[in-house]
Amino acid sequence: MRTRKVKWIVIWAVLIVGGAGLVAWDLASFPEYFYERSSRVPFNHEKHAEALGLDCSKCHVGAEAGIRATMPSKADCMDCHNLPLTESEGIERLDKALLNAPDAPFVFTSLLPSNVVFPHGLHVKSGVSCETCHGSAKEIDAGRRPQVRMQDCLACHQGKLGFPKASTDCARCHR
Ligand code: HEC
Ligand code: HEC
Ligand code: HEC
Ligand code: HEC
Ligand code: HEC
Repeated sequence: MRTRKVKWIVIWAVLIVGGAGLVAWDLASFPEYFYERSSRVPFNHEKHAEALGLDCSKCHVGAEAGIRATMPSKADCMDCHNLPLTESEGIERLDKALLNAPDAPFVFTSLLPSNVVFPHGLHVKSGVSCETCHGSAKEIDAGRRPQVRMQDCLACHQGKLGFPKASTDCARCHR
């Protein structure tokens, strides 16, 4: 009788400590994932496309001239979302998330190695559309990322995709 009770206590102790360990491991290994689940600020390009006619540079201010396209700040969202927009479940969830969000809630981690240069704005200025490299708003929302393998860059720079030819000199792209 006694040993059975002890056995259960041990089993529970193992489960509780193990569970706490898993949570701690999760937090330590995947902070973005945890952030995503708990307080991520929701955003959807497709919904804004209809509402705004979607001027990409309003939110990605570096896209047409900068080295990086950049991400919008919380203040950029508040420009419109401080107004009383239609009350909906989506807007309620947004207000709650914005309240707790840091000033720069959206972070884009470069897909390129640090020794490769990709001057973002130069590409837009030379007449390549956002959609050529990023796909449609719907595809971006679904998580599509641009191609960043050297052979993809070179194919376009060699003129194979119908855009103006650009440098294939190693030192232009590699620091
Ligand atoms: C109202 C603001 C807003 C506008 C306008 C906007 N975006 Fe975004 N964009 C965002 C936000 C916010 C994110 C980050 C979304 C997230 O992390 O959930 C984002 C992310 C992206 C990303 C990165 C996706 C990734 O791989 O992480 C791309 C590419 C992008 N937008 C392209 C565009 C293009 C192209 C347009 C115009 C057709 C556009 N955006 C217009 C707010 C905007
Ligand atoms: C020639 C291809 C190309 C074109 C054209 C292009 N992009 Fe990008 N874009 C990229 C690549 C490649 C990255 C990833 C850069 C990296 O990982 O460092 C990127 C990154 C981004 C990001 C992520 C945020 C950041 O700071 O890098 C956003 C947002 C974005 N582009 C928006 C746009 C918009 C808006 C347009 C049109 C005005 C556009 N892009 C046109 C290739 C392109
Ligand atoms: C230029 C104005 C404008 C800006 C800037 C803007 N939004 Fe919106 N947003 C709207 C409008 C308009 C709606 C539709 C309102 C409605 O359906 O009642 C909307 C709807 C939404 C919704 C609700 C979608 C749903 O599921 O119902 C979310 C979430 C949202 N926006 C997030 C953001 C975020 C995050 C930012 C900043 C990156 C942002 N918005 C910037 C105008 C804007
Ligand atoms: C869809 C076509 C396209 C793709 C894809 C593309 N580029 Fe380009 N790139 C261009 C064009 C066009 C120019 C020329 C701009 C000009 O000279 O006005 C250019 C210019 C450049 C320059 C400046 C070159 C110079 O002479 O100084 C660099 C650096 C560069 N691209 C890097 C990259 C990298 C890295 C990638 C892949 C991650 C890439 N590009 C993908 C079309 C493209
Ligand atoms: C248009 C831009 C561009 C040019 C020009 C370019 N590269 Fe790259 N290179 C890249 C990008 C982007 C990567 C990283 C992605 C990848 O590994 O494919 C890369 C990666 C590499 C790597 C690492 C690949 C690996 O498997 O680790 C080497 C080595 C390299 N480049 C050598 C060169 C040499 C040599 C030249 C000149 C003959 C050159 N590159 C010209 C864009 C370029």
